[in-house]
Amino acid sequence: MANSKYEYVKSFELEDELPNLILVRIDGRDFSRFSQVHEFEKPNDEAALNLLNSCSAAVLEEFPDIIFAYGYSDEYSFVFKKTSRFYQRRASKILSLVASFFAAVYPEVLQAYLAWRQQDCHANNQYETCFWMLVKSGMTISEAQELLKDTQKQQKNELLFHKFGINYKTLPELFRQGSCLFKKKIEEKGCVGTILYNDLGHFSKDIGRVEPDFVRSFQFENKLLPLTWVVVRIDGSHFHRFSDVHEFEKPNDEQALKLMNSCAVAVLQEFEDIHFGYGVSDEYSFVLKRESELYQRQSSKIISAIASLFTSTYVIKWGDFFPRKELKYPPSFDGRAVCYPTYKILLDYLAWRQVDCHINNQYNTCFWMLVKSGKTKTQSQDYLKGTQTREKNELLSSQFGIEYNTLPLIFRMGSSVLRSKEAVAVENGVVVSGKKLKREGEVVVDHCNIIERGFWEEHPHILSYS
Ligand code: GTP
Ligand code: MG
Repeated sequence: MANSKYEYVKSFELEDELPNLILVRIDGRDFSRFSQVHEFEKPNDEAALNLLNSCSAAVLEEFPDIIFAYGYSDEYSFVFKKTSRFYQRRASKILSLVASFFAAVYPEVLQAYLAWRQQDCHANNQYETCFWMLVKSGMTISEAQELLKDTQKQQKNELLFHKFGINYKTLPELFRQGSCLFKKKIEEKGCVGTILYNDLGHFSKDIGRVEPDFVRSFQFENKLLPLTWVVVRIDGSHFHRFSDVHEFEKPNDEQALKLMNSCAVAVLQEFEDIHFGYGVSDEYSFVLKRESELYQRQSSKIISAIASLFTSTYVIKWGDFFPRKELKYPPSFDGRAVCYPTYKILLDYLAWRQVDCHINNQYNTCFWMLVKSGKTKTQSQDYLKGTQTREKNELLSSQFGIEYNTLPLIFRMGSSVLRSKEAVAVENGVVVSGKKLKREGEVVVDHCNIIERGFWEEHPHILSYS
């Protein structure tokens, strides 16, 4: 398909292939709030832990390259097999599926890491058990915190035993040890974890000697350049199949696009630092303000927080947009973060995406009209090979009576998500000249031409560059 003059922006995307062993740790975002809102049992909610375990088991099922997982509280660590070519080992792709990762050079480092996380689980659970027993017995939160400050393991065990008659060692293992998920080698009965042992070697027994700083030193540092425009682009994973299975309209399914838009609105509502979003097909680009210090500009955190919020919103809101269609399997979105050094290059990036929207939409509209008129897919492809914009418009007009420029804006322009500067007229979240007024600063969806510089000159507040 044709290239545009904006394609040069692709050169800002960095290669980020991971060396060595890949370990990814995900961690619930603002989970104390989440567990409060959902009234989780304190200090441990067995159902919540089991949910986490079953989600992680699903991850293991989905990605054959993950051979081991360990989790407790709101975090899970996933270990990839040494030879994995998962997403060509590209960090941003892998990171978007999970929150962060550790890479370990030697098997013993990996063992040390896993053992270290397990030790952390011990310490946390013991503290939490004491803390909530004290609070339940009538102490205020700050009194309980004060009493437990600087106490050792032994002291906490004694406190539990003498004050509350609890023998810490008899509490369920799920709380004390966290959970391990293995893939069993079916043919070797009784040898749970064979693959892991083959791949990683043996676990060290003496977990008390693990040096946290040593393990931490393998954490991938991935700070985004300061004072650059950061764009996080998420993209539906295998959406070709997803849209087939869910029988999306071809070439454009308006409901599917509106569902994407409502997820993007949720992202802007959640992250104040995101000033603009642009979406087309199964992708969405989010622009962070230049000075943003979100997650101290750690790309792994930013990408995974956005991709996971977008995905969970997609699942939750599915029924609002497809009330008569069942969601057949969980969708996922991968993501990447790219830094653009100047405002002009940022606008060229956005123009590049909208030009892509134009080119693809025009091609797809022609392609599916030809297919619907009886041509095979190959015949339609051959027919369209080498055709220019004008020729495609003529084909649509003469053969199918379609004036391309009258097709819905959402298909031709894609969707922009932004905060309104003044009260604007809005219908179903979309800016129109109408009666309903939205408050200033409210997140709205529009289908504007963002290639034209005039748009940005007229709306300098959107990216509020200085
Ligand atoms: P990866 O992103 O590499 O995992 O592959 P993908 O299958 O998601 O393909 P890609 O992101 O390149 O393209 C998105 C695909 O989603 C399109 O090729 C379509 O098959 C499908 N898709 C997106 N939006 C629609 C829609 O509105 N209707 C239909 N029928 N399909 C759509
Ligand atoms: Mg995709």
